[in-house]
Amino acid sequence: MCHDSEVATAQLGSTAGPVRSQFRHGLRLNFAQPGSLRHWPIGSGDLEVLDLFPRSILRGSLEASLLSELLQLSGAMLQQPEHYRDASVKLAGQLSQQREFRPDHPAVQKLCSSVLLPGCERWIRHVIDRQPPQGRGPWIPGHYELNMIDVWLNCQRAGDYNPTHTHGGSFSGVVFLKVPPQLNARSFDGQLCFHGPEEWNIQSFRTGMAQYVLPTPGDFYIFPAWQPHSVAPFRGEGERWSLAFNVIARPRVGPATPTPAQANISLSNQRPQVRGF
Ligand SMILES: [Fe+2]
Repeated sequence: MCHDSEVATAQLGSTAGPVRSQFRHGLRLNFAQPGSLRHWPIGSGDLEVLDLFPRSILRGSLEASLLSELLQLSGAMLQQPEHYRDASVKLAGQLSQQREFRPDHPAVQKLCSSVLLPGCERWIRHVIDRQPPQGRGPWIPGHYELNMIDVWLNCQRAGDYNPTHTHGGSFSGVVFLKVPPQLNARSFDGQLCFHGPEEWNIQSFRTGMAQYVLPTPGDFYIFPAWQPHSVAPFRGEGERWSLAFNVIARPRVGPATPTPAQANISLSNQRPQVRGF
C-alpha cells in the first residue's frame, strides 16, 4: 500500500541497470540519469516506449558554388521580375514577389538533377524500404520516375507571410537562398513551420506537432506535398529569398514484368493508367 509520505525514486544507470522505486499517491519520479527510458526493465518483463507516426523530412545543404549561382540568378530575376512568369497566381503566399525560374537555366538544371530529384529519391528509399516488400507498391527502383514540374523564387519582405498550406504533386521543398541577419531562434520571425495534425497549445503542453525551422542560406528541405507548412512574417529590413519546387512521382507504365513477389500488391505498377495515387 502506498503512503503519501513515500517519495517515488527510480534510478536508471543504464537500460539494463537495476531499478529502485518507491511510489506514493500522485506518483512522482526522480530520475538520477534521465535519457535511458526507452527500455525500462520492470520485474521479469521489459517495457518499451513506441514513438509512433514520425514525419520524414529530408534536410541537406547546397555546395557554396551552386548557392552562389542561384543567388546571382535570383538577384537578376528580382531586378527585372517582369521578364519571368508570375507564380503568385497559383500560390497561397502573401509575398512581395513570386516568380518562376526558367527550367533551362544551367544553375536550375544542376540543382534539380543533382540535388532535388536525388533528394526525393532518397526520401522514397528511406520511407519505402522500411516497408515489407509487399507494402512497397510501385515505389521500387526502376519502376517509377520523378519529374520536376514547378520551380519558383519567393521574395519575402517585412510583413509578408505564407499561411498554412499544402502543395500539389508528390513532393515539395524549399531551398533557402538569402536570410535577413535579424532572424534568429529567439523568435518565430521568418521561420518555416511544419505542422502536425494537432494544434499547438502551450497551455496544455501540446507542442510536439509544430516544428519550426530557422532558415539558413544553402539549407534545403524536401517533404511530401501533403505536409502542411507555413512561413511566419518577420520584422525589420532586408529580404528573405527562397526557392520552392514541386515534383511528381509517377509509376512507370510499360514493359516491366512483375515478379511473383510484386504481382500480388494493390498499388501495382502494371496498371495501364496512372490513377488514384
Ligand atoms: Fe509551400
